[in-house]
Amino acid sequence: MTSTDIVIRPVSGLDPAQDDLFREWAAVQEASARATFGEDHSSWGVEELRELERSTERLRLSWVALDGDHRVVAGVNVAMPRHDNTTMAGIDLVVHPARRRAGLGTRVLQHAEARAAEHGRTLLLAETQWPVTGTDGCGEGFAAQHGYAAAQTVVRSTLTLPGDRAALRAVLGSRDGDGYAVHTVWDGVPDRWLAGRAELSRRMSTDIPLGDLQLEEEVWDEDRVREGYARIAAMGRRVADTFAVDESTGRLVGYTQVQVGAPPDLAYQQDTLVMREHRGHGLGLRLKAANTLAVMTELPEVTRIRTWNADDNLHMLAVNREIGYEQDAWLREWQKVV
Ligand SMILES: CC(C)(COP(=O)(O)OP(=O)(O)OC[C@H]1O[C@@H](n2cnc3c(N)ncnc32)[C@H](O)[C@@H]1OP(=O)(O)O)[C@@H](O)C(=O)NCCC(=O)NCCS
Repeated sequence: MTSTDIVIRPVSGLDPAQDDLFREWAAVQEASARATFGEDHSSWGVEELRELERSTERLRLSWVALDGDHRVVAGVNVAMPRHDNTTMAGIDLVVHPARRRAGLGTRVLQHAEARAAEHGRTLLLAETQWPVTGTDGCGEGFAAQHGYAAAQTVVRSTLTLPGDRAALRAVLGSRDGDGYAVHTVWDGVPDRWLAGRAELSRRMSTDIPLGDLQLEEEVWDEDRVREGYARIAAMGRRVADTFAVDESTGRLVGYTQVQVGAPPDLAYQQDTLVMREHRGHGLGLRLKAANTLAVMTELPEVTRIRTWNADDNLHMLAVNREIGYEQDAWLREWQKVV
């Protein structure tokens, strides 16, 4: 096969006529993840990918590369935030493991970069992942060669469940009466907490280590929070949020969130944040302990929770170690400013 036999065309999971093509593209993404991580991969399911296209968070466009036999051999998702960071595009490029080192990645990346430019996107981000014992071949060998700079290194860790209930309960009870309460809610938040939840998401975008990533503060309101939970439900995921409440004001001052979809035994940790002015009270540890206990009780089929943290986020990494997480992979964020 030469690169000239390749045709690049758009694909959407929302067009029923393209369903087969979209599924083939999802299968290529899964094959790539399996090639790196085996059965224990973290790729998105086809219905989750479809829901991502419906999200009002980002304009998400995809293209596939077809070979002479009309098979999908590579593809790219370009995700462009709509609420903030409107000069940024996340580029998720995948070449089928059997079709690499033949120029496909370069060709599809050039296509994606040109489309991102048409949408006024000048800050391009991409991710590479590799097992803890391996090396970042795709990042160092490919992304760097195409003008992307390493902007942040991220530690992937996994907690095996069930955890030690008594130890987690002891963490929770360790600071009773200190003026903070911890509450867990499933599958959305009560209306009275929507504004506080929006404020936590805004703070989450700037109050965490960002490495060299040139990201702006995110813009959040109650509608965006509601839409986020609607999207999670539409993906068929359950979601547990644990909040820290300052009892003197009733305000939300910290949160952590875990989502579980398919496969049902693997949960994904999302945001965790304690507002700067409320740090130093063991709230990060208490939030994670309460959330882990909630998952163990409500969804006993979950055997692992997976999380990603910046390698310089020492407090979060220490909390996770104390809960029982162990590192099993690396992720790197690559950034190109056009
Ligand atoms: C990274 C990826 C997209 C590259 O696709 P590809 O079709 O193999 O890329 P190309 O053939 O265009 O590679 C061009 C050059 O990049 C370099 N390169 C690509 N992959 C490399 C690797 N794993 N290790 C070292 N160098 C690599 C080589 O110099 C290569 O030229 P050569 O084959 O003549 O030596 C592909 O490996 C992949 O899908 N990886 C998993 C997903 C991923 O990491 N995506 C993020 C990419 S930013």
